[in-house]
Amino acid sequence: MKKITAVKKGLKGQVTVPGDKSISHRALILGALAEGITEIENFLVAQDTLATLNCLKKYGVRIERKDAFVRIFGSDQNFSEPQDVLDAQNSGTTIRLLSGVAATFPFVSVFTGDASLRRRPMKRVLEPLTQMGAMVLARGQGDYAPFAIKGGKLRGQDFILKKASAQVKSALLLAGLRAEGNTSVTEPQLSRDHTERMLVGFGAKIKREGLRVEISGGQKLLGQKVVVPGDFSTASFFIVAALVVPDSHLIIKNVGLNPTRTGLLTVLKEMGANIQILNFHENSGEPVGDLEVKYSPLKAVEVPPEIVPAMIDEFPILAVAMALAYGKSQVRGAEELRVKESDRIKSIVSEFSKMGVAVKELPDGFIISGGNKILGTTVDSHHDHRIAMSLAVLGLTAAGTTEILNAEAVAISYPEFFQQLSKLTEGA
Ligand code: S3P
Repeated sequence: MKKITAVKKGLKGQVTVPGDKSISHRALILGALAEGITEIENFLVAQDTLATLNCLKKYGVRIERKDAFVRIFGSDQNFSEPQDVLDAQNSGTTIRLLSGVAATFPFVSVFTGDASLRRRPMKRVLEPLTQMGAMVLARGQGDYAPFAIKGGKLRGQDFILKKASAQVKSALLLAGLRAEGNTSVTEPQLSRDHTERMLVGFGAKIKREGLRVEISGGQKLLGQKVVVPGDFSTASFFIVAALVVPDSHLIIKNVGLNPTRTGLLTVLKEMGANIQILNFHENSGEPVGDLEVKYSPLKAVEVPPEIVPAMIDEFPILAVAMALAYGKSQVRGAEELRVKESDRIKSIVSEFSKMGVAVKELPDGFIISGGNKILGTTVDSHHDHRIAMSLAVLGLTAAGTTEILNAEAVAISYPEFFQQLSKLTEGA
């Protein structure tokens, strides 16, 4: 349990957020498959990314880590049949991306995860991998972990996804890299493209035409140095905290600004947010910059459904901004939120309403009438890191104390979140 009390002064100064979670997972996986040494700087040290690291070690990959620096001795010959079950814990990215890799090995890989991950849909990756030639046996009519994959010689295919998903796209591109012939993935909207960018950085050739991306099989990757930018999704909690606490002025340094991730900035700006990008540059194939955020009175917004994939992980914290904005805000076309680390539509509706927010559940989103007085009370993270951090930010604006149950979930993506938040608010 964690207690949050209302802040009396604005959040001021500079903050640096840890490395990007999606990019850290991918750097480990591509580094393991590439020939030679890969070095990762500013790797995210958190439960999700360590789950990927430990699964790769179980395949026999040699990996050394000292804090946020990782060295991988890569080679696709390194992988051998794991002696035990691969535990992806809470991490959808671990289980789905590694399934794509596992499908190319002529031996058995068995995957599982924690209670949340075992409830999340896996058919979206397992079915196309089966079509490419892998053998899969999964619980719950082929949709849930634990599952076993025996791969081998895969055949490239053309896939058209019904929903934008970077995890599905990445799994299929990784399988396609080691399949015979070409594999393409076409999405309805562009999901985060870190895998494509990093594959190019590791020497692979990729063809992109609009929403279609194609890779030809049999290409070799070469070990690289990867500098991971700060995680935009993590930065989003401080962005919104600075926007809603009066008199705040915060600089968030070295944040990844890949446009497939920054939909939240577009929506917040429409709400009236004062956010500037400074020092914009590129590092390891990814756009990076500093964000300067000032307290801003916000007005309600309707989120256009086509922007949903570019801000899929930011809806819990956007809901905080909406709760404190003037007027009625709406999110539609976001039914994917129901199959994240928790059912995020339900988590937002149940916990925010306990704190006095006028929020109404929709099948594919929610409506928030902003401006109610926020009340401190006991709330629950539903074991979801992003819900825990969002409730903490909402708690900064509440009358009285907010007690967050299962707050330790923040360790999934940001173990030092509460220390950093109290530094910012105490310094305030
Ligand atoms: C991720 C993709 C997204 C996102 C998740 C991380 C990734 O999931 O929600 O937190 O690293 O590829 P989907 O691909 O299921 O949309």
